[in-house]
Amino acid sequence: MKNIVVFTGAGISAESGLSTFRDSNGLWKKYKIEDVATFGAFIKNPRLVLNFYNLRRKQLLKVEPNIAHISLNELQYKFNLTIVTQNIDDLHERSGTKNVIHLHGKLTESKSIIDNKIYDIVGGELNVGDYCKKGGQLRPNVVWFGEAVPNMDLAIEVVRKASILIIIGTSLQVYPAATIIDYAINAERIILVDTNPSIYKGIEVFKGKATEIIPDLVRGLLS
Ligand code: APR
Repeated sequence: MKNIVVFTGAGISAESGLSTFRDSNGLWKKYKIEDVATFGAFIKNPRLVLNFYNLRRKQLLKVEPNIAHISLNELQYKFNLTIVTQNIDDLHERSGTKNVIHLHGKLTESKSIIDNKIYDIVGGELNVGDYCKKGGQLRPNVVWFGEAVPNMDLAIEVVRKASILIIIGTSLQVYPAATIIDYAINAERIILVDTNPSIYKGIEVFKGKATEIIPDLVRGLLS
């Protein structure tokens, strides 16, 4: 079977009720990145940072995958499907997708600041005083600005082998994630689905909502 890679951003989860970052009502209109999404911010004000993610985790528990997440899984009947996501939500997994590579971490996990060991977050909250087995403060298992993206090499490897790359709901403004498109050197088709597409040159662009476009796009790819 041919390989298909779907590269997603916050836009695919928007219609499930999760905020994007750079839309008019996005998270970065309400919070400063330097206050809540850097290691320095965590050291300076751990409570503020942990609460920023506690709020988003609580919100995540209230929402469901939407038809865009769900319909992507049908691609598994004809293709080797891998999803590379910038999202830290678990909506792809909860929709039934097996192969998901998270570039920016997972909201549902914490990690030790001593040895980077990963733990599931039980009960949805992560607070100051929640320690790992070695007594180190636990932090969200998310990639903050300025930090390395551990899964980038793995993502590049799968994108290089993709016959089709579908990009959904990302402003392609954050690096190195946004360079993914440059590694699709063997792709017969590169397709972009976005309400406000940021690139058009040399690819197939569908302007609109993921839930309105993805089901038909999947049906077309399976026919
Ligand atoms: N359907 C399709 N696309 C949508 C929808 C929708 N319903 N709603 C919004 N979009 C599009 C927007 O037009 C925009 O291009 O989704 C994109 C969201 O862009 P951002 O808010 O910048 O989110 P993203 O690209 O995922 O951000 C990348 O930045 O802050 C960091 O780590 C964070 O992973 C995140 C990274």
